[in-house]
Amino acid sequence: MTMELLKTIKRLQQVLSRDRNSGLTIGFVPTMGALHQGHLSLVERAGQENDRTVVSIFVNPNQFNDPNDLKNYPRTLEADLKLLSTLPCDYVFSPDADEIYPYPDTRKFDFGSLETVMEGHFRPGHFNGVAQVVSRLFEIVGPDKAYFGLKDFQQYAIIRKMVAMLRLPIAVFGCDTVREADGLAMSSRNALLSKDHRAVAPQIYCILQEAQKEARIFSPEEVKRHVTEKINSIGLLRVEYFEIADELTLKSVNSWEEKGTKVGCIAVFAGSVRLIDNIVFDK
Ligand code: PAF
Repeated sequence: MTMELLKTIKRLQQVLSRDRNSGLTIGFVPTMGALHQGHLSLVERAGQENDRTVVSIFVNPNQFNDPNDLKNYPRTLEADLKLLSTLPCDYVFSPDADEIYPYPDTRKFDFGSLETVMEGHFRPGHFNGVAQVVSRLFEIVGPDKAYFGLKDFQQYAIIRKMVAMLRLPIAVFGCDTVREADGLAMSSRNALLSKDHRAVAPQIYCILQEAQKEARIFSPEEVKRHVTEKINSIGLLRVEYFEIADELTLKSVNSWEEKGTKVGCIAVFAGSVRLIDNIVFDK
């Protein structure tokens, strides 16, 4: 099937209701464009697990707490379409803001402690904006399955909770982070890194991997301090936070003996570009 670009909800819903009436299943990958291999791996998976795949490309103003970040966010629609045309992507939904938000979205979601820590703490309002747009896109697309990257670990937790709270009949999948050959987690923001910042950015993942080994010897508190000190000592990088949290509740972990899988989540400024990453402590 040739990939189709759709700008309006009306047109998208026409094609999707035709597909649904033919008994086809629909997979959905929401994105803000500037696509990289991480996004493409989500589209590949959606293509394998569904009859039709929809990719949305929409830079959602409501989730940017920093107006400069919104202004600088890379917008590369032509290149994105070219990449998607080589994949099992049937529909690209690329709406204008008025289409998604005909009226200001004033909904306030309450995700409890999931939204007050880490990204939620440092980017106030961010997850409310994510929930607004993802719930709206879910309502428009009505997918059977939706796919998200685990680089945005907290976002994945929030979306699972949102789907449960709204009782949506959508299966949500978290997919592994895709990395550059040198270990840097793929991100649309990597394109904004200067040459010098790009050169040191892979240190973030190296140091997270060292932390995994350190966890055999040191307490979570000590591991957090070591990671922060090591990254800050590089000079061009500045840690905003590094937290070791329970993977389900996202509550801070004080001892490795606590039950459940633990995940180390980090945000680092490389100049003015903010990078996030995470690592699972499987001990
Ligand atoms: O992860 C992203 O790219 C965005 O937060 C999402 C899920 C597409 C919502 O705008």
